[in-house]
Amino acid sequence: MKKEKFGSVQGNAVTLYTLTNSNGLEVRATNFGGIIVSVRTPDKQGRMDDIVLGFDDLQGYLDNKPYFGAIIGRYANRIAAARFTLDGVQYSLAANNGPNSLHGGIKGFNKVVWSAEPFENSTGVGLIFTYTSKDGEEGYPGNLRAKVTYTLTDQNELTFDYEAMTDKATPVNLTQHSYFNLAGDGRGDILGHELTLNADRFTPVDKNLIPTGELRAVKNSPLDFTKSTRIGSRINDKDEQLVLGHGYDHNFVIHRTDPGPVLAAHLREPQTGRVLDVYTTEPGVQFYSGNFLDGTITGKQGHVYKQRFGLALEPQHFPDSPNHPEFPSTILRPGQVYQSRTVYKFSVEK
Ligand code: BGC
Repeated sequence: MKKEKFGSVQGNAVTLYTLTNSNGLEVRATNFGGIIVSVRTPDKQGRMDDIVLGFDDLQGYLDNKPYFGAIIGRYANRIAAARFTLDGVQYSLAANNGPNSLHGGIKGFNKVVWSAEPFENSTGVGLIFTYTSKDGEEGYPGNLRAKVTYTLTDQNELTFDYEAMTDKATPVNLTQHSYFNLAGDGRGDILGHELTLNADRFTPVDKNLIPTGELRAVKNSPLDFTKSTRIGSRINDKDEQLVLGHGYDHNFVIHRTDPGPVLAAHLREPQTGRVLDVYTTEPGVQFYSGNFLDGTITGKQGHVYKQRFGLALEPQHFPDSPNHPEFPSTILRPGQVYQSRTVYKFSVEK
């Protein structure tokens, strides 16, 4: 494993780690926000390319409005009106997305310097990131000790194992926010990618992208990805949900057959043959088609990120669960251990 200086944030050293497996797959990650800086995989001709969006240097990640590559916490996705009530107490969060709280607040887990411990064992090479979020941080109750383990295996999997413990009841919903473009970073939009989602329902949203509470069938709608479909084929349909989301920005309810990681998404880019399979223990996956990218951000190697130049598949609990008792609970209590696992598996189909 290679270790390089990546700069510093408020006096804390930030390091860039390079993980490589026996097939030459290479993942670079930093302890600032646990950000995945690059993922290099072969195409069907064996040509390597970087398939995630991001920046060349730490400076770019300090602002990072799209949350490229970062760990998201304490609460991935939106909490309506930036507040929730837990055990009779109301908690207020910063509204950083219209009236909502998005992705953990103003300084979420994507903006903190994590402790990092590199390791190598029989399953692969990786990094253990740890961070303790203080009681009251960003408005959330309890000291939360979070641990996220990244492992790159020789089976071309990048796995994420999340763990957390608290000393007061608190919502927790952790995810990884990499934006993929399997044709290669900066190569164009992702509309030609073909997507399959193992989900026959989704959580429809209102104008603030907050779930209404309904679990709606995807059947007969442009949100039906139960069979492999080009992302661009229906994205501009005059469907109410697509209009509200400015494209796809929805949580899909994963069809679960067992408690272990199940396949949530299968993504294929036909020109390069690159494939990404996403497995998770989470109940949902947010499919975000990069609608808010608008050409104002210049990323790696001068690449200008225009609308839909990348997409995110974020395994997580449903948005706004603290305000939806009917959704699977996101509340972690003292004595419990939050555990979650996601696997990104990279391959090529000729
Ligand atoms: C959300 C988008 C949001 C984006 C921010 C995604 O997880 O679903 O609505 O704009 O994060 O980069």
